[in-house]
Amino acid sequence: MKLISSLITAGLMVSVSAPVFASKEIASKNSCMGCHAMDKKVVGPSYKDIAAKYKGQPDAVDKLVKKVKVGGGGVWGAVPMPGNNRISDADAKTVVQWILDSNK
Ligand code: HEC
Repeated sequence: MKLISSLITAGLMVSVSAPVFASKEIASKNSCMGCHAMDKKVVGPSYKDIAAKYKGQPDAVDKLVKKVKVGGGGVWGAVPMPGNNRISDADAKTVVQWILDSNK
């Protein structure tokens, strides 16, 4: 019984944390983390600030996926983000979703 319940617990932990690891990995792999950090400004705004800014906006994911791929500036300051055109749509969406969920 004890073994079964610890297996279930382990299974739950994996299913909860796996998407977070995957998202972080996508962010590192696409060098997002070179300009962004979770809770402090680097070259670009922190992910927590981004999450706070777009909180409650249902079209934020689509809008930010486009921005991540194409790049652009003027929202957070004078420094623009270069386009990240090597990231796939699916990966961009996963990362943006992860960013927007980051201060829940
Ligand atoms: C060379 C530095 C750099 C890299 C690499 C970079 N960013 Fe950015 N990012 C910025 C800057 C600067 C801004 C602010 C742009 C602005 O003010 O509109 C920004 C803004 C953003 C925003 C908010 C956009 C908005 O309009 O509010 C998101 C989301 C984002 N970045 C995600 C990513 C993701 C995901 C990656 C990796 C695929 C990435 N960034 C890679 C510099 C970078």
